[in-house]
Amino acid sequence: MIATAWWGRRLARAAEWLTTPLLPDDYLGLVNPLWSASEPCGRVESVRRETADATTLLIRPGRGWAGHHPGHHLRVGVEIQGVLHWRVYSITSAPDSPDGLVSITVKTLPGGRVSPHLGRHTAPGTVLRLGAAEGDFTLPFPVPPRLLLLTAGVGITPVMGILRALAARDTVPDTVLVHSAATPQDVVFGPELRELARRKAALTLHEHYTRMHPGGPGAGARSRRLTADRLADLVPDWRERDTWACGPVGMLEAVERHWAQAGIAEHLHVERFRFATTPAGAEANGPGRVRFTVTGREADAAPCVPLLVVGEDAGVPMPSGCRMGICHSCVARLVRGRVRDLRTGRIHGEAGDLVQTCVSAAAGPVHLEL
Ligand code: FES
Repeated sequence: MIATAWWGRRLARAAEWLTTPLLPDDYLGLVNPLWSASEPCGRVESVRRETADATTLLIRPGRGWAGHHPGHHLRVGVEIQGVLHWRVYSITSAPDSPDGLVSITVKTLPGGRVSPHLGRHTAPGTVLRLGAAEGDFTLPFPVPPRLLLLTAGVGITPVMGILRALAARDTVPDTVLVHSAATPQDVVFGPELRELARRKAALTLHEHYTRMHPGGPGAGARSRRLTADRLADLVPDWRERDTWACGPVGMLEAVERHWAQAGIAEHLHVERFRFATTPAGAEANGPGRVRFTVTGREADAAPCVPLLVVGEDAGVPMPSGCRMGICHSCVARLVRGRVRDLRTGRIHGEAGDLVQTCVSAAAGPVHLEL
């Protein structure tokens, strides 16, 4: 046994010596991207249309994939016209699914660059770069006995990973899912959710449609948001349930206020993909204007617009990845001025600091080393 390990180390050292300056892993990645452990990749095995604008990619992860927990998200890198773009997606599959596949569900955003490519033009066989699974929108262990899952639109995606994991267990905790969508046809995973609720007595599904004709589903009717009163009718014991919520910013802010007013904010877990657009005291530091010191470009910057977008609109080559404060691909050096963190509203920054341009806005005049 000891001799085997010794020979293994010798062989690894010899391989490193032969492949210098690259590592053996680099050559494995060239032969087959899925063999690389240093740059994990996955191959799209199949593509499934969920709704008119949501598509699931089922991906076979390669050697570097370390697994995930239900509720995690991951960065996905896709090459479009020779440029690698990174975006973050929730993992919608359960961990350790029997087929070994990992799935993400992409909503096609009109005018977007990456989501239409992934959702409409990605064929089986496409290789995608994969980041590590991460996030804290996960269930604790042991799982609380009573759960409330509050979702809207594609906010169902991280919760679907959680539901599929719960459904695979022998005992499913008492779980209520309240999901909002425009119409029944817009419910992502609608048929599977309804089937799950039919099979699992412990799972209750309430679908709330925001756009309904009196005579049935369809366009042209008035918008009808889920209200606190309606939620209390559907789930009378909502205060006693540990709650996971994911959806548009407006919904999450209303939910956070409601839970805080009820004095149970600690029972609420929120997955937030977009940022508030009305920072308090936004004008206190004067009008925002950004000077990009390397390219010499300059642009006005509204208090709620990320520096990343200000730079892109001004034609400055801006590094970026997830565009939501997770990957740190977008950092730039602050030469002068201060910035506002769009997630918290905190104003900060000293000359020389690195700032994440995707989640920072100008708080007055700013110089950035770009
Ligand atoms: S682009 Fe990922 S943190 Fe800014």
